[in-house]
Amino acid sequence: MSHTSSRQAFLSMREFLGLGPEDEERLTGFLPRIEDRLPKITDRFYALLGREEQLAHFLEGRLETLKRTHLEWLRALFSGEYGEPFFERQLVVGQVHVRIALDSLWVDAVMNVLRRDLLAAILDVAVEEAEALAVYGSLVKVMDLALMVINFAYNEHRLQLIHQVTGMPEALIERLIRVGVGSAGS
Ligand code: HEM
Repeated sequence: MSHTSSRQAFLSMREFLGLGPEDEERLTGFLPRIEDRLPKITDRFYALLGREEQLAHFLEGRLETLKRTHLEWLRALFSGEYGEPFFERQLVVGQVHVRIALDSLWVDAVMNVLRRDLLAAILDVAVEEAEALAVYGSLVKVMDLALMVINFAYNEHRLQLIHQVTGMPEALIERLIRVGVGSAGS
């Protein structure tokens, strides 16, 4: 997946999910009530990663920095700004994880943990269930979009690797992956 395709895919999926002004207002409006809960979610997140044998070594010597950037990332989910800078930021987050050679499956899996922890926090502070449902509905649109973009970075990296190894043009590789070998030449 090239950078241009990633951006287009992001815009299409944002439209498909219907992430719009209502979600933006709902999430920014909810931030003051949930922000106190976010540091605990970050702490739990890194405690979980630290207990996992295959992941603990990634955290050595940089836990405090990681916690700070992770907390900023969590807050940004409620920023109401889900345009180009959001796309570029998530792509960088993906690239950082590609660079450390973290298997993308881990990112997919731990996003689930974050979804559950955020839902619990929302339920805790919302005035009624209907509000919690609405806030969580908006939040998962943003989180799932973020995860898609993080995965785009992995896809871009795979595309570049295949290009380097085979010398095939990136556009052709992308097409082969998208439509399958059988119909790529047509
Ligand atoms: C939902 C999943 C995850 C999110 C949202 C997330 C978020 C972030 C963010 C915002 C950064 C800072 C990026 C930057 O420097 O601009 C980061 C860096 C990092 N993350 Fe994650 N992360 C996730 C999963 C993981 C997992 C599973 C690990 C495994 C231990 C991990 C390890 C790291 C490390 C080691 C860095 C620093 C890399 C470097 O600066 O060289 N992350 N992450």
